[in-house]
Order: sequence, then C-alpha cells, then structure tokens
Amino acid sequence: MCGIIGVVGMPNAASALVKGLKRLEYRGYDSAGIAVVTGKGLEIQRAVGAVANLERQAAPLGTVGIGHTRWATHGPPTEANSHPHRDCSERLAVVHNGIVENYQELREGLQARGHRLLSQTDTEVLAHLIEERYHGDLLAAVQETLPLIEGSYGLVVVSADAPDRIVCARMRSPLLLGVGQGQMLLASDATALLEHTRSVVFLEDGETAELTQERVRLFDAHRKPKIPVVRELPWNLEAAEKGGFDHFMLKEIHEIPEALHEVFRGRLGMAGDRFDVEGALPESALRGAQRILVLACGTSYYAGMVGRSIVEQLAGVPVDVQLASEYRYAPQTTQEGTLAIFVSQSGETADTLEAMRRARASGCRTLAMVNVVGSTLAREAEGVFYLRAGPEIGVASTKAFVNMVGGFYLLGLHLGATRGHLTPDECKRLAGEMRTLPRLAQRALETAGDVAPLAGEFFHGAEHAFYLGRQINHGLAMEGALKIKEISYLHAEGYAAGELKHGPLALLTPDFPVVVALSDKEPTYGVMVSNIGEVRARGAKVLAIATETDANVHKHVDHVVRVPASDPLFYPVPACVALYLLAYHAARGRGCNIDRPRNLAKSVTVE
Ligand code: AGP
Repeated sequence: MCGIIGVVGMPNAASALVKGLKRLEYRGYDSAGIAVVTGKGLEIQRAVGAVANLERQAAPLGTVGIGHTRWATHGPPTEANSHPHRDCSERLAVVHNGIVENYQELREGLQARGHRLLSQTDTEVLAHLIEERYHGDLLAAVQETLPLIEGSYGLVVVSADAPDRIVCARMRSPLLLGVGQGQMLLASDATALLEHTRSVVFLEDGETAELTQERVRLFDAHRKPKIPVVRELPWNLEAAEKGGFDHFMLKEIHEIPEALHEVFRGRLGMAGDRFDVEGALPESALRGAQRILVLACGTSYYAGMVGRSIVEQLAGVPVDVQLASEYRYAPQTTQEGTLAIFVSQSGETADTLEAMRRARASGCRTLAMVNVVGSTLAREAEGVFYLRAGPEIGVASTKAFVNMVGGFYLLGLHLGATRGHLTPDECKRLAGEMRTLPRLAQRALETAGDVAPLAGEFFHGAEHAFYLGRQINHGLAMEGALKIKEISYLHAEGYAAGELKHGPLALLTPDFPVVVALSDKEPTYGVMVSNIGEVRARGAKVLAIATETDANVHKHVDHVVRVPASDPLFYPVPACVALYLLAYHAARGRGCNIDRPRNLAKSVTVE
C-alpha cells in the first residue's frame, strides 16, 4: 500500500521525487524518503509523517533517484523504518511496496553472514540480498535475488556504482514505467507520472526492468528480453489536482455528475443491447450466465450490494455478493455457468485479485469492473468494463462508487434487454432515466449542499450512529456508515432496517443518531416509516435522506435532507451524494484529516 517512484534523467531528481510522492501520499503517509545519486555517492533523506516533512530538508543534487511513501506493515513509523533502505556498503538503496513473507528467515541468514540490519522492516533484507549478488551488474543482482523472496513486491533499486540507472521488479504489487523525452520514470500509480508523461508501460508479475535516460530494457519472469508495449493514459494532470476545493474528497463528490456522464457516454443505446466490455470475454458469457457472483471489498462491495438489487430487478438473474477477502479462503465449489464480477476502483486490491484467480480456477467467467486503466485486475480478468470516473485520490471512495452503481445499471439494462426480461418500451424508459442521472446528481449537490451545519449538530456529542435502509438502500446505508466512520472516526453501522429489532435496538439512547435512506416510491416505504417509529420511541433522533416529493417524512423524523425524486431504482445516486456531503461535513467539523484518514491507505495491496 506504499507509494513508490523512481526517476532517471531529471534535471532535479529530488524535487521530481518529492512532487511525485505528494501525489502518492494517499497510498501511505507514515513516513517518506528519497535516495538520489550525487557526486558523493547515494544521498538519502527520510522523515516520519507527511512528505512535507521531507521537503523541509535541503535537496541533494542529482538526476537519478528513487522515493517512497510508507504505510507501515512491519515496524512502527520511525525514521529507521522509513524507506529507502541501504545495504552494508551504503552504496545501494531499495524502496519496496508489498510484503516479504519470509523476511524473518532471510534476516536471520543475513545476520549470520555478518550483515548489519538497522530497521524492523521486511524490506531491508532486500538491500542486503542484492548486495550479496552485486558483482557490477545491478539488474542481474536483482534478478538473482527475486527467487529467494516469498510474498509481493513492487521493488526499485538504485546504486552509486551504477549511477545512470534504476532497476525494478514486480510481483503482485502495481508498478508502471513512464516513458518521457530523455527521461524515464516509474511509479506505483499513474498519478505520479502524469506531470511528465502519459506514455506508460505496465509491468506484469515476475517482470524486471532497467531504466536509463534513453531506454527501457524489459525482461519476463524467465529473464528473457521483452518488447515494452507503450500505452497512452486517458487522464491528465488537472484531473489529479484539487482544482480549488479544500479536499480531494469534496472535489470528487462534486465530480460525480461528470463521472456519471462519462460512465454512460456512448453506452446507453435505446435497446440496451450493448455492454461495453474490452477483452476476450464473449458476449455469450454475459448473456448466458446462470448466476452472477460479485466479489469486492469495502465501498466496492457495497456497490455490489446495490448492484445485486439492480441486476436482479432489471434482468431476473440471481446475483450473489461476497467479500473478496472471505471468498478467497472459502471451500472451493464448482461454479460453471457463473459470471464473476470483480468491482474495484484501483484494480489492485490484493484480496479482490486473489478472489479473481480463485474464481477462475473454479470455472467462473471473469469480468472486472474497474476504474484504473491497465490495472492488474483489468489485465487479468477475461473482460473489463471501465468505470471512467477519472483519478480518485481521496482515500474515501465517492465518485468511483457512483460509477460502479452506474455500471450495474448498464449491465442490468443489457441483460434485461438481451434475455427478454424487459420489453423494448421498458428499456427505452430506463435508458431515458439513466440519461438524466448526471443531472439528478447535480441537483442533489444543490439540494443537499448546505448540510454542513446540520452535520455538525446532528452528530454532536455522539459516539455511535446507525444508518438504515432496505433492499437497494441497504447497501447504500452500509456505504453511508463506512464513509462516516472512515473519515470522521465516529463509530457507525449500516443495517437492513428490519434487523434492528432483532438485537441492535437495545443500543439506542437519545445520544445515538440514526440516519435513514428512503425513497417515497419504494415498495418498503411503509415499513421503513414503522422502523423509524421504533427508533424514535427509544428517544433516538433521526435524519432522513428523503426525496423532494415526500410530503410525509418530516412528520416522522427530526431532520430531512432532500434529494431529487426518481424511480426508487435510481434513488441511490442522489442519496449517496447527500450521504457523502453529510460525512464530509461531519468529519470537517471534527477537524479530521479527510483525505488521509488515520491507519488507512487508498489502495490495499496487502491481504
Ligand atoms: C472506501 O472509501 C475505502 N477506502 C475502501 O473501502 C475501498 O473501497 C476498498 O479498499 C476497495 O478498494 P478498491 O475499490 O480499490 O478495490
């Protein structure tokens, strides 16, 4: 989950590294560090905390270097545990993203052979193992070290004895190379490269590469040379900047209408007969699926829960949604006839990737629903549906969730149309409504835009909260609760509203706020109102995210945040805009670090 970067041929490598690290900070912010090749050898700078702490130090001068921003896995966030890590000679430095699972054993061996290890990290062993194998060829030393490592790595190495190059390797941890004019770069994420180039090469598992100013030498897992395939990234730098907003999260909430427009662009045929999948997945695997299995983590899992309701309603296909982190270890059953859909913003979530490999081994057809172009999930699944939400930097996922839901609307419409579950007239009506969703989200930004004072007042003094919804709004409630807990540190649980009376109702007191997501046209509106009554009877206060046409709800709750009315199938779109604004303002009122919540990272590349 750490961020890594490397540059060759930069007039000021240190400043390019620090700038790149700032763009990678969402991957980890426990510490940061750089190593630059200078006339004196290797100059290393490291600092605990944000990259800004590193920036205060005088920059070493050189054109080649590597950098790292850390999300701690082995050893606390101290300077000694910060990357880059050195070998005994201090002429070689390594940055690493991933986990060396057998590091304890490797460490003991190194110590027995006289190496001095100075940190508690798993990474440091890599520097010493490469040192032992370095006899004038850095690439060969790295390639000879890799078979000793069990685990995952995005690994970058620089040496004062090979001052014109950096060497990298990848195994289950993202890494891409940036090809510039007289400059070569690499990073764990595209956002760190965009300032310099949009031409990139994605590394595959087992591959190694050597970058010099003029060329990239790429090798496959058997150390055979390979021709790098250069692809153009569809994003620009502006899309990765804050654009005048105080936080990336707020900017990304405001980008929801545009993101939705993009997910539907060119994909909303009247007849619903198209579903835009790239790759080798045949149309028959979609159309003929007897069952759909959605696998994902966190917010993407909740998007899958919403997606289940959409696809079951529109297409009549049974959909199961499972946590990728559980599925990957569950007993294996034959799943022929199952279309497995992997939902992910980053496309690099370790559990989702492993779940995909597992599902494929069980006979599922595999489709990735992914935002990051060229990510591992996108490349490994048989087919990929791109979410087109643009770069999402805030650790709390927002616009990507909405586009995942958008993707399920398209899939539901497509399957409903092609399997004859929807009539042509119904398809036409639904496609028309989908076309209005960006506008609906835009209106929700307006109707819920002034929620800041209410967010402060409603959660004031509370330590716990419930978020309730039914059916399609159950996943939405889960997502609302996750958002507030991850950015404001308020403990919140999402519940299917009917479940409260089976236990959790016992927790309610007047200090226990409850948020309900309900649409006036949903079939379960009446029972939702009864559930609200049960909650209020215990003295708890209730805030409803309700539609503008709901003339009844205010009689039953303490506060109402209005969103534009729609078919209840589409209510999750405007409602999540309101839930995101509520969470954002509650966190802001509590003085939390919204874009970088404690203990979290944007992309969870460890299990
Ligand atoms: C959401 O706000 C999260 N920070 C997190 O739950 C995230 O959705 C999860 O880690 C999955 O990430 P992915 O979509 O990149 O696979």
